[in-house]
Amino acid sequence: MSSVVVMGTQWGDEGKGKIVDHLAEQAQVVVRYQGGNNAGHTVVVKGIESKLNLLPSGILYPGKTCIIGNGVVIDPGHLLKEIKAMLAKGVDMSGLKISNRAQVILPYHRLLDEADEDARGESKIGTTKRGIGPCYVDKNARVGIRIVDLMDREEFAGRLKVNLAAKNELLTKIYGKQPMDYDAVLAEYLGYADELRPYVADTIFTLHDAINNGDRILYEGAQATMLDLDFGTYPYVTSSHPIAGGVCVGAGVGPKAIDKVIGVVKAYTTRVGEGPFVTELHEETGEMIRQRGHEFGTTTGRPRRTGWLDTVVVKYACMLSQIDCLAITRLDILDTLPSLKICTGYIYQGKPLHEYPASLKVLAQVEPVYEELPGWQTDTTAIRRYEELPLNARRYVERLSECAGARLGIVSVGPDREQTIVLEPMF
Ligand code: GDP
Ligand code: IMO
Ligand code: MG
Repeated sequence: MSSVVVMGTQWGDEGKGKIVDHLAEQAQVVVRYQGGNNAGHTVVVKGIESKLNLLPSGILYPGKTCIIGNGVVIDPGHLLKEIKAMLAKGVDMSGLKISNRAQVILPYHRLLDEADEDARGESKIGTTKRGIGPCYVDKNARVGIRIVDLMDREEFAGRLKVNLAAKNELLTKIYGKQPMDYDAVLAEYLGYADELRPYVADTIFTLHDAINNGDRILYEGAQATMLDLDFGTYPYVTSSHPIAGGVCVGAGVGPKAIDKVIGVVKAYTTRVGEGPFVTELHEETGEMIRQRGHEFGTTTGRPRRTGWLDTVVVKYACMLSQIDCLAITRLDILDTLPSLKICTGYIYQGKPLHEYPASLKVLAQVEPVYEELPGWQTDTTAIRRYEELPLNARRYVERLSECAGARLGIVSVGPDREQTIVLEPMF
């Protein structure tokens, strides 16, 4: 096994960063394939926490090649801040490679993200306001600026001039905002270009060289299945493809290059931002999970909405990405509960639904079918072997695996790299 994808099965923040960091020890290359600094991946090593938005979660190991792939949208100022923070901590950055085909987030993307959200009013998406959506819009409209263009002063100056003129029309005439100053943006971004240049490469070739060399590759998803542009709860989604299929276009490999897909599942459900959430808890238990789990967004600090585990969602994610095994995280957050509920189906107009509904109107009306399972009320955070988990904890994760139709691969019982129970070899 030489290529493994780690991706989210719910609405993000499942603990992908932790699982990627854990597995990165065995890999030579770690690749981010989509999203941007809307992601917030937390990695904890010996009690020290690192929050990563754009840098692949393998960066904390020296000597790994860490690729920011062509499918990612890059805010250069933000990326430089992340790089500098890591350098200040003494982290080795020599393995970082930024795709010259990745798209650049410009200040007008952030402004448009905000203006768009304000204009939507009540029906806002609850984006991270990092300019992600507007940047992918430009990519698809074929007016985006790529890293390779940013590296070329003349090319960048020309493209920026045309784009800024168009965006200023939008900002001033449609949204009633101030126009942006061309010279200021140009100077700011040319400065970034010089600082990023040493890391820029045509990463599709770096990656294929590594594949041909027999290296172990780890693909790191950001966001998650239910935020996928095609398969999530549209329009309450992000603008990229977090599913395993996103790896092919976001990194530049064929489907046969993927040997194994690991779906990361939080042991309960959270969602940050607006949109349907069938198993959401509005009462005490939801608040208890939020407090015990410190469920506040890594990127925006917003309180995350919390709810019971929804295996209908996880099963759907397993189908879409042909997930081989599950990495279940944050089991320890449920350690104190006397009993737990798992959603095993949806009822719509009195009948069970067999498909995940595309219509948000239908989704708003479905009733979750719950199974109640006894809790384990035991601290699991020091457990490192599956057999040592309390019986009821094992029953809980085994029921999840059964409903989802994927094997149990990893059970995580704490944020630290070490707090990980591995049930099968991952590479
Ligand atoms: P990601 O976006 O999928 O990488 O997840 P985030 O980093 O946004 O959120 C997951 C949070 O849970 C982070 O604070 C992690 O450090 C933490 N975490 C990951 N796995 C576990 C676990 O098994 N138990 C606990 N208590 N925390 C975990
Ligand atoms: P990680 O990788 C959770 C959500 C936003 C919003 C929607 C669209 O840490 O799991 P966007 O800014 O992408 O246009 O916002 O997607 N969202 C996330 N939620 N985890 C994330 O990333 C997210 N990235 C975006 O809250 O609802
Ligand atoms: Mg996150």
